[in-house]
Amino acid sequence: MTGGDAGSGPNGDADELPPGPDGLPVLGNAHQYVRRPMGFFDELAKYGDVVRCEFPRIDAVAVFHPDHIGDVLLDPSTYERWNFDELKEILDYEIAPRGLTFTRGEEWRRQRHFLQPMFGLDRLEGFSSAMVAATDRLVAEWDDGEEVVINEEFSRLTLSILTNSLFDFDLGERRQVITDAADELQAMADMSGLAAAELLLPSWVPTHRNRRYTRVMDAFDETVDALVERRRANPDRYDDLLTTMLEREDDHEYAMSDEEIHDHLITFLIAGHETTATALTFTWLLLATNEDERRRLETEVTTALDGPPTADDLPELAVTERVAKEAMRMYPPAGMLFREATEETRLGGYRIPEGTKVLLPQFTVHADDRWFEAPDRFRPERFTPERSDRRPEFAYFPFGGGPHQCIGMHFAMMELKHVVPILARRVRFELLSSPAPDVNMELTLQPSEDVRMRVHKR
Ligand code: HEM
Repeated sequence: MTGGDAGSGPNGDADELPPGPDGLPVLGNAHQYVRRPMGFFDELAKYGDVVRCEFPRIDAVAVFHPDHIGDVLLDPSTYERWNFDELKEILDYEIAPRGLTFTRGEEWRRQRHFLQPMFGLDRLEGFSSAMVAATDRLVAEWDDGEEVVINEEFSRLTLSILTNSLFDFDLGERRQVITDAADELQAMADMSGLAAAELLLPSWVPTHRNRRYTRVMDAFDETVDALVERRRANPDRYDDLLTTMLEREDDHEYAMSDEEIHDHLITFLIAGHETTATALTFTWLLLATNEDERRRLETEVTTALDGPPTADDLPELAVTERVAKEAMRMYPPAGMLFREATEETRLGGYRIPEGTKVLLPQFTVHADDRWFEAPDRFRPERFTPERSDRRPEFAYFPFGGGPHQCIGMHFAMMELKHVVPILARRVRFELLSSPAPDVNMELTLQPSEDVRMRVHKR
């Protein structure tokens, strides 16, 4: 037993389960989750900091207090990642089962230890020029006055930066295969949520949909295998993450199988692509509607930089960093983290039975006025070091925390601190679509409609 307060529950009963909306019909919960995840979790938060909620065939608790979120994230043996095993039966294709986001226990620990150095700051600095080049290319493609869908543009951009860093060569037409797979996964994540709500019925996913998914993912697998093969044939010519993985093959302690390398590449492509694109989309949406903050950012990027940023400039870009952090507070790209209690335990004084799914909704916690005054306002100054220090550690956790904290966090922050200043120096966006679109919980948080902007070049 571990995590949270030991002893009896708040009402003096050691067996007490967390409070929750008993009155709601079971299916009501599920449908609310699918249609309006934020609204549903706002409702749940009214019951307390650890709240029971029942979905068909799934008993879950949602956790709203930073201290209890820390209890969960810092104790991965009691709270393992929930891998949605219940949903796997409805899909023919399993995504990267041996990649870092799905392995558990000793296998995960060994992989994380092996991969961590590849994402260290010293290693990442080498990707600075790829980040600048890809952003420059994007700006060059835009005409002055052109209308663009920025969520799509940023998705292309982050994919391009990521693939250049993972595989240091031009993907050419293979890029489309990767984009198709990413789109398909987003759509499938959306449907899996719905399927979960619909009693996890295996027949729910229409067969033609499942077939297309399998076809697209098979093409994706073949592409990744071909890239690995090509690299094995030409090992010395490249300086990228794939080379680093292959270099360690002679090291018997860490040697990776082809299957593992393949699954890691897929994991990084999926985990590192739409997340950063979402952060960029909402950063620019918020800047387009907050004139003063945009001006403050422009002042910083014109005074601190005399051209595109280099890795050495990044510490100077404090305003840029605060803007990106505040955008990820209001619109956390991952949306929610998922765990599963591997044994009976206690959290916030309540009993958590073995097998309970534990939901950590970032979007609700990040909008709690106990930690963020006027949470609906875009106020990057919340993230000055002094003000950040005054908040509980897990009041803000866009990259998670504890041993599973995002391995790509430095990569992503570095990317944001390259792309945002370059764009702020070179263009001004005029918002053409809604200033506050609804959001969907797919694989990542997504605006429910396209975010359209007119590009004015400087
Ligand atoms: C703004 C961008 C990003 C955000 C907000 C983000 C968010 C997260 C979060 C919240 C987790 C923890 C999940 C959990 O505890 O269940 C995570 C894990 C992970 N992320 Fe990211 N991520 C971002 C970018 C990236 C990038 C660029 C990469 C890779 C190139 C990446 C690769 C991963 C991997 C492999 C994990 C699993 C780590 C583990 O379990 O050991 N992410 N990310």
